[in-house]
Amino acid sequence: MPDLVIRPAVQDDLEGLWDFLAMAAYEPDAEAAKAVPRVAKYLVGWQRPGDFGFIAEQNGEDIGAAWARRFSAEELKFHYGDEEAPKVSIGVKPNARGQGVGEKLMRALIGEAARRGLGLCLSVRSENPARRLYERLGFCDIPGSATTNRAGGMSIGMALRRSSS
Ligand SMILES: CC(C)(COP(=O)(O)OP(=O)(O)OC[C@H]1O[C@@H](n2cnc3c(N)ncnc32)[C@H](O)[C@@H]1OP(=O)(O)O)[C@@H](O)C(=O)NCCC(=O)NCCS
Repeated sequence: MPDLVIRPAVQDDLEGLWDFLAMAAYEPDAEAAKAVPRVAKYLVGWQRPGDFGFIAEQNGEDIGAAWARRFSAEELKFHYGDEEAPKVSIGVKPNARGQGVGEKLMRALIGEAARRGLGLCLSVRSENPARRLYERLGFCDIPGSATTNRAGGMSIGMALRRSSS
């Protein structure tokens, strides 16, 4: 994709990030995402200590974003074995999907997590084709993590271990 820039997400990106959270959480728009506490918790208070993320920008337009937030044990609905691992949110605008933007965002996020000595984890609907992307990047299904999601389907947890180097 020409003219694609991946840059770190900053405090001022919050309003735009709500749009990408809506995409990631299958909400119709930012306002809907803000209204659902279990969705909004991925962004409320951005950029709190430990939050990090990246924006994909093309010709001055934000077309995708991926970020990671660490939750306390109380905030998490279920545990991933590694409570240190921040949880990933990712969304790419519909007309920009399938062209490698999501992969570039994930690689940037994984690199930053590695620099911080952290693994990553995420929750994905079982039928989401993005599962293949996560597997290619080294994420593995977390045994016993399958849960019924808000749409009545199944979601599974995936984790990328912190690099030992
Ligand atoms: C998931 C998502 C972030 C991936 O971003 P992307 O820029 O499309 O990703 P890439 O182009 O790097 O492709 C990665 C995978 O996404 C899949 N993909 C491609 N087009 C897609 C589309 N229109 N919708 C969903 N997934 C798509 C591809 O199957 C690809 O996997 P493959 O190469 O094994 O076939 C993006 O499709 C999206 O925002 N989807 C809706 C929100 C979502 O599902 N978020 C993730 C929740 S865990």
